[in-house]
Amino acid sequence: MPTLLHVVGARPNFMKAAPVLSAARERGLSQFLVHTGQHYDHSMSEAFFADLGLPAPDENLGVGSGTHAEQTAKIMLRFEPVLDRRRPQWIIVYGDVNSTVASALVAAKKGIRIAHVEAGLRSRDWSMPEEINRVLTDRLGDLLLTPSRDADENLRAEGIAVERIRFVGNVMVDTLLRLIDRARGLRMPAAVGVEPGRYAFVTLHRPSNVDDPGTLAELLAALDDLGREMPVCFAVHPRTRQRIQDFRLAPPPSAGGVRFLEPLGYLETVGLVDQSALVLTDSGGLQEETTVLGVPCLTARANTERPITVTDGTNRLVASTRAAIGQAVAAILAARRNGSFEPRRPEGWDGRAGERVVDAIVGEESSLPSRSGSP
Ligand code: UD1
Repeated sequence: MPTLLHVVGARPNFMKAAPVLSAARERGLSQFLVHTGQHYDHSMSEAFFADLGLPAPDENLGVGSGTHAEQTAKIMLRFEPVLDRRRPQWIIVYGDVNSTVASALVAAKKGIRIAHVEAGLRSRDWSMPEEINRVLTDRLGDLLLTPSRDADENLRAEGIAVERIRFVGNVMVDTLLRLIDRARGLRMPAAVGVEPGRYAFVTLHRPSNVDDPGTLAELLAALDDLGREMPVCFAVHPRTRQRIQDFRLAPPPSAGGVRFLEPLGYLETVGLVDQSALVLTDSGGLQEETTVLGVPCLTARANTERPITVTDGTNRLVASTRAAIGQAVAAILAARRNGSFEPRRPEGWDGRAGERVVDAIVGEESSLPSRSGSP
């Protein structure tokens, strides 16, 4: 049986790795967990390990923040000796963060097999760092494990051999379904002082939204407007908090109906999303979680790598302007009143994706074509 080495680094990796680690443990596989330390604040990292029941990492590379080049290079330098010491047959990488591509590049050059969980998603927006990470990681990966059929199509269109592509479904949904009852048990709306079903939940952290003062000001104005309709719970990412300060944009915390919250743990977030009237976000994961929970979602972006959440789910793209968000909120509230809201659960978003990831790795171990010839 192969030895696996999982690499995680940033907040959205943790809920994806949890079900795969657990399925591999049940199959009796030997495995290691490496945390690159890309995210390091308690609220961005340890809080998630605790909520998700993840084992403590076997190694923490402690890379911290920096420019993309600094962060990527540091991960590569510190990851190489770990691979030499642990000698896994496979590394498993998740999603699209800098830790994903950096560790995959090191492993590829050492001839260690790479499984990429959440392969094949494409926004077709090369200005997004995550898009660069996705395309390169899929080019490097031996086994590309996809969450939705559109991802298979994207990979085939890029000329990737079909033998390397496996549709497994969405691992994040495994975690959501496993923990939803615990999240509900926290009674988060009461804990933050809002009424179930009568508030909005907001997260914003993409560079395209928060690194430009004009765009961030528009978004804060949109939140202020929304706060006049209903209380707004805004869980503020450290990057966003920093930018609000840098650009001197912050209204007093008590202004309007907007509550500025610290970044929340996984259960707290799911607990608030589940009971919200709507979500406004630029997160990838929340687009999927709202689809499964049947909560209307507005994604403040020009594109999404998760189009299935729009075609089958509750997601809708909206421009990052006060006017566009105002109109979209009005449309959601009208649709809710008319009862014209019917989400569908996409194929393979069923709580068993982690098992299928492990089946794919174990099943294909011996039969994978060698990558030593043409790439
Ligand atoms: C990263 C991912 C993004 C993901 C997001 C989730 C990349 C390219 N981006 O973006 O895809 O959606 O994580 O959060 O990998 N910071 C802290 N404490 C922390 C971590 C970060 O204060 O624990 C601050 C630092 O000022 C840092 C900034 O946030 O410079 C950005 O962190 P970084 O990991 O570079 O990118 P994210 O914006 O978090």
